[in-house]
Amino acid sequence: MTHAAITGVGAYLPERIVTNDDMAKMVETSDEWIRTRTGIRERRIAAEDQATSDLGVGAARAALTDAGLAPADIDLLVVGTSSPDMVMPSSACLLQAKLGLSCPAFDVMAACTSFIYAIQVATSAIESGRARRALVVGADALTRLIDFSDRRTCVLFGDGAGAFVLEANDEPGILGIDLGADGSKPEVLQIPAGGSAMPATCQTVEDGLHFVQMNGQEVFKFAVRAIPATTKKALAASDLTIDDVTWLVPHQANQRILDTVADRLHLPHERVFSNIECLGNTSAASIPLAVNDLYTSGSLRRGDVLALVGFGAGLTWGAAIVRWTKEDL
Ligand code: COA
Repeated sequence: MTHAAITGVGAYLPERIVTNDDMAKMVETSDEWIRTRTGIRERRIAAEDQATSDLGVGAARAALTDAGLAPADIDLLVVGTSSPDMVMPSSACLLQAKLGLSCPAFDVMAACTSFIYAIQVATSAIESGRARRALVVGADALTRLIDFSDRRTCVLFGDGAGAFVLEANDEPGILGIDLGADGSKPEVLQIPAGGSAMPATCQTVEDGLHFVQMNGQEVFKFAVRAIPATTKKALAASDLTIDDVTWLVPHQANQRILDTVADRLHLPHERVFSNIECLGNTSAASIPLAVNDLYTSGSLRRGDVLALVGFGAGLTWGAAIVRWTKEDL
C-alpha cells in the first residue's frame, strides 16, 4: 500500500509584533490578565498589504525547499483557512498562481481544525494514488476578522502560515486520523455576516457582524473534552496508545487548555508543545507552525510519534498521528 509521509515543513510569520502592552492601549486589558488567562505575551499581525495567500507563499516556499522539490513537482494544493483572501476564488487558487503551480487547488474550511482536515484530504489522495506530492498549507490572517474594540476576542488571535509537503512513501508517515464535527451550535464561535445567510449591508457593518463572535467559556469546555477524545481515537486507529506519543501538538488557543488536556491525558506537560506565548492563536496555521518550531529547534528524531490535534468553530475537531520519517537535522 502507498502511504503518505511528511517530507517538507515550512513556516512564515509577519514581521509586526504586537505585545500585550500594545493591546492594553487599544482596549481595557492588561498584560497580567492576558498572560494568566491565556498564556499569550505577544502575537504577529499581517502587514496591510498581506492577505492569507501572501502568508501562505512564504510557508509553502520554505516547505518546498525543505523537501527539495520544485513547484512543478506538486500535484495537489490544499489550503486550510478560515480567513480566505476573498469569498471567491479560493485562497488556494490565489496561492497556486503566486507559487507558479499548475495542479488542482482548493480551500478546506474547518476553522482552527482546517489543517487536520486538509491533511486528511491530502493523505487520502496520496494513499489512493490520485496524487503523489501534495502541498498542505495552513494560513490565517484572522486578525482581519477581529473587532479590535472587543477585549474578549482581540487579545487572543495572531496571523501566520505553516506548510507541509506530503509525499507517497513506502514507510507510513501519516498513521491514523480522526475527524469530527457538530454543527448544532454554530453560535458558540462564528462570523455571522458576509456570507449568503447575511450578506453585507451598512447595518451588518455597523453592528460589527463581520467580526468573530465567541462564547469563550463554551469553547474552553468543548476544547478540553474534544482534544483528549479525538487524540485517543486517532491513536487507536494507529494501533498506538498515549504512551507512544513523543509530542502532543495541540492547536494553540489557550495555555490553560493545553495544561488541562495534559492532565486529562496523563501526559507530562513538557511533552505538550506550546508556542502560544509568542504567537497567540493563529487558527489553521498553529499546528504546522508548532511542528516547524519543533523541527527547526532539533527536537524531532526519526521515529518520533506526533499527535497533531485541532479544534475550533463548527464545532470541529480532529487529530492526525504522525510518525516522523525525516532524517534528523
Ligand atoms: N482583559 C481584561 N478582562 C477581560 C478580557 C481581557 N482581554 N476579556 C474578558 N475579560 C473580562 C470579562 O469581561 C469578564 O469580566 P466580568 O466578570 O466583569 O464580566 C472577566 O474578564 C472574566 O471573563 P471570562 O470570559 O469568564 O474569562 P475566562 O477565564 O473564561 O477567559 C477566555 C476568557 C476567552 C480567555 C477563555 O474563556 C478562553 O480562552 N476560551 C477559549 C477560547 C478559544 O480557545 N477560542 C478559539 C478556539 S479555536
